[in-house]
Amino acid sequence: MCGIVGCILKDKEKPVAPILLECVENLDYRGYDSVGIATFDGSIHVKKDKGKIPEVDEKLNLADMPGNFGIAHVRWPSTGVPSKINAHPQLDQAGTIAVVHNGSLKNYDELKGELIADGFKFKSTTDTEVIPHLIRKYMNEGFDLEHAFRKTIERLDGSYAIAVICEEENNKILATRYQSPLKIGVSDDAYFISSDIPAIIDYTRKIILPAEGEMIILDESGVKVHDENGNEIEKETVLIPWTAQMANKGEHPYFMIKEILEQPDAVEFTLDEMDNIRKIVDDLDNIKNICFVACGTSYHASLSGKYLIQHLAKIKTDVVLASEFKYTADTLDEDTLVIFISQSGETLDSMNALRIAKETSPTLAIVNNIGSSMTEEAKYTIITQAGPEKGVAATKTYIAQLTAIYLFAGLLAKDDDLIEELHKVPNYIREVLEKSEEIEVLSKRYSFAEDLFYLGRGFSYPIALEGALKLKEISLIHAEGYASGELKHGPLALINHRVPVIVILPPGSDYEETMVNLEEVKARKAIILSICAEGDGKAECKSRDVFTINPNVSEMVAPLVYTVPLQLLAYYVTLEKGHDPDKPENLAKVITV
Ligand code: AGP
Repeated sequence: MCGIVGCILKDKEKPVAPILLECVENLDYRGYDSVGIATFDGSIHVKKDKGKIPEVDEKLNLADMPGNFGIAHVRWPSTGVPSKINAHPQLDQAGTIAVVHNGSLKNYDELKGELIADGFKFKSTTDTEVIPHLIRKYMNEGFDLEHAFRKTIERLDGSYAIAVICEEENNKILATRYQSPLKIGVSDDAYFISSDIPAIIDYTRKIILPAEGEMIILDESGVKVHDENGNEIEKETVLIPWTAQMANKGEHPYFMIKEILEQPDAVEFTLDEMDNIRKIVDDLDNIKNICFVACGTSYHASLSGKYLIQHLAKIKTDVVLASEFKYTADTLDEDTLVIFISQSGETLDSMNALRIAKETSPTLAIVNNIGSSMTEEAKYTIITQAGPEKGVAATKTYIAQLTAIYLFAGLLAKDDDLIEELHKVPNYIREVLEKSEEIEVLSKRYSFAEDLFYLGRGFSYPIALEGALKLKEISLIHAEGYASGELKHGPLALINHRVPVIVILPPGSDYEETMVNLEEVKARKAIILSICAEGDGKAECKSRDVFTINPNVSEMVAPLVYTVPLQLLAYYVTLEKGHDPDKPENLAKVITV
């Protein structure tokens, strides 16, 4: 999705453009097709174009712009094709007001019509361009920048995080947000606004979290936040426990592999949240039903939560895709805990569902991004301690989500054995990672495939879904995750000697039935790769390949461990196919539309 940044340096002589460039580079994981910067040094300077940051930088030398303050943007199009003219910043007619915007405006057509009737001329086909024109219209009517911006915001219907600079009031950046993320950063030398913390983490860990509708004013003397009536309000500054090193690739070629390797730590640090989770569980004594709501990988973590909570705590648990939530919302009541699982804490489908759910039910958000919108709106919050994740494919945040969900379920069911078992998971994952070369070799044997199936049963069904999603989103190979008993009800027709089938076979009560399903695909000559326990002679003899896991990993905790070789497989197959695993085509890390 789009990302915005603004920075004002206290030192008037120092150029801000190199810093803005570095910050938007740090936002590139959100997904984008164009980039732009506006700075001020007596007049507004703009450089922008369609393309990836290195290409545009090579052409325009983005760091070479005068002025000690400015705004920057990476664009993921929602309205208007990717083009130079549609790239942000968007300007008013005279080029004296520059705006960057993340979000989308539902009523831009109507506003555009009104502005055109008033004589304003539009250059782009974006929704954003109405914003600088509206600000100019109100400034023409005699309002100062802050009032003109406020009146503009009142006219907008949609989601937005917006930053503005203006030639007449040339010492400040104004910004605000509604249903789109925005953070304020404070350092000794500069003040920032940014869509995401990783963009500015190289400069500061001191963050202020503005609420929806608040107006942020950055100038050389500091940060002011005004409420909706223009009154200045005190805001707390929080120290983010993330470091710049955590948000950088370091010696690794891609974020995805760095993040896969960080998974033992993600589990350990999330286990440290046990006391916080216990407080929430203690407060939820009367809960009769649970409903998980999430998208994508977070949905798969939720599905594991359903199996676990029903098994251990015997509480009826549903899982609903956030985009489908409104169709089941009528069945909620105050005895149903609605749990939102999200890496970003910003996904719009989940946010919309949260806003509906909180009307009737207690809500819990399990998110990785500190200060994200879901943490503001949910009654209870658990922060997973995976640190910043930049690869579009969620890996360590997924394992951290599972850790938090398993802790929650274990505490809810008062199951000390599970909690003890969870503390062994980091080492089980380390053992898998130590054998990642085996997966690298296997990837060469599977990258030819055009279609793959992943099969699992019970606790292993979500593993199959997640393995397939990882592969398809980054390698662009078609993959399906199936409950292994369901295959015979249709998809078995697609199995033949060209189709690899990956079977998730942890030891436990589902083993024999899954083995029957393995036989079914073997009879149709499928190429079988089993993920099974060390010493599983049966699986070894019936599969073309096996990847083995510590036999002490039970089927119940298998999602936390058996998923890891599938992440590695997706990663290495993607490299084998020559794609970038961090930035798959057409996908963004944070989906706020
Ligand atoms: C994960 O690999 C995907 N990129 C995607 O499915 C993601 O999990 C989904 O968009 C939900 O995001 P969230 O966890 O930030 O809400």
